[in-house]
Amino acid sequence: MKKYVITGKKPLKGTVSISGSKNAALPLLAASLLTNEDVTLHNMPVLRDTETMIELLAMLGKKVIVENEKVVIKSTGEKKYKATYDIVKQMRASIVVLGPLLARYKKAHVSLPGGCAFGPRPVDLHLKGLEALGATICMKHGYIDAVANPLVGGRFNMMGEFGTSVLGTDNIAMAATLAKGSTIIENAAREPETEDLMHMLTAMGAKISGIGTSILTIEGVKELHGCEYTIIPDRIEAGTFAIIAAATGSQISLKYNRPEHLEPLLDLFKECGIGSSYKNGVLTITGKNPASYKPFKITTLPYPGFPTDMQSLVMVLGCVAPGISFISEGIYPNRFNHVPEFNRMGANIEVDQNTAIMKECVGLQGATVQASDLRAGASLVIAALCAEGKSEVRRVYHIERGYEDFVAKLKKIGASIREAKDTLI
Ligand code: EPU
Repeated sequence: MKKYVITGKKPLKGTVSISGSKNAALPLLAASLLTNEDVTLHNMPVLRDTETMIELLAMLGKKVIVENEKVVIKSTGEKKYKATYDIVKQMRASIVVLGPLLARYKKAHVSLPGGCAFGPRPVDLHLKGLEALGATICMKHGYIDAVANPLVGGRFNMMGEFGTSVLGTDNIAMAATLAKGSTIIENAAREPETEDLMHMLTAMGAKISGIGTSILTIEGVKELHGCEYTIIPDRIEAGTFAIIAAATGSQISLKYNRPEHLEPLLDLFKECGIGSSYKNGVLTITGKNPASYKPFKITTLPYPGFPTDMQSLVMVLGCVAPGISFISEGIYPNRFNHVPEFNRMGANIEVDQNTAIMKECVGLQGATVQASDLRAGASLVIAALCAEGKSEVRRVYHIERGYEDFVAKLKKIGASIREAKDTLI
């Protein structure tokens, strides 16, 4: 196993290139199952999760050629429709092959994802949505067994107890592209990653209206064709480096051309007194001494609300800013596994139900901490960059699932970070 060794409080400065979006890339890769023709994707991030999805596509009868950030997906003519437990347990997002398999091969056998580090993550909306399109679904031996008899257009409301589901919307929309008749998805996810998928499906010949809104209407077509498509840049990676600039009081420029996707974070920065500017594809964050920042109060919500994937990251800001800040989780009420690790670094955070209360602390101190999931891991790296002295962040395999060249990008802006072998489990 690997760990990161970080010495905090180093001045950071420079430019970071933001990679393609992980959460857009995964459903876009799955969409290639909807056609026999070649699909070429550009700006593919090189990550553990995209590698896992490519492995899954190969299991499902695709031949995938990877040339750096370009991926070409070809058909081998084999019709395979089983996503095994081995692969789904590595990555929950594998569930997003369910809709395309059902649409294309009329049946799918996909392992149920197991537990998740940040609480229960059901897939009931995915299944009910596919049933609304005429699929028959049953659970057998830990697998979802789905049959299309055939798929017909229907109406489905994606609203669950904690809002809409991103991958649920993606699954139903992909199934609907090849269903007979028209489908309406109400309360569809409006996340930029879902919007990106809808644009790619349109490039493949799908008939979709309402893209980017909460009502998607999909007119089924007989078949979809191949396409060449460029994945949007990763807003969560951009947000991560933006928060690094803010929390360490540094000026960092991001080669990132979709600042509109970062609006909830940039609005928060404005409220706290952190400057940002955008010009010609470059977003610059000008951090100041965090002692000058105002405390804040946010709630994570589906897009365009504040993203849950930045909740742990922005918590570092709440720790270094004076006063009391509040972060409420509106999507995953238990996504707070990073809090005890932050407190070991000298933070003063209490969790009351779905709200974390960050009280002023005397300063973060380096410590040995461990990542419990991808974003929690990245937040510990940010905390370590702000902390006095040396930290070791363990279980960094979580971080490597979703951040391309994280260590190299951090070194380039002056961070003192190195990878080391971790003998402990
Ligand atoms: N939900 C249900 N029933 C369902 C599906 C979801 O009740 O059938 C609930 C969940 O319990 C949760 C909410 O709906 O409260 C949204 O969760 P969901 O499981 O639908 O999220 P997702 O679509 O599987 C994507 C991202 C996550 C991100 C969430 C929320 C990908 C690959 N993953 O997951 O990203 O946190 O949306 O924005 O797109 C990450 O990148 O670190 C990550 C976890």
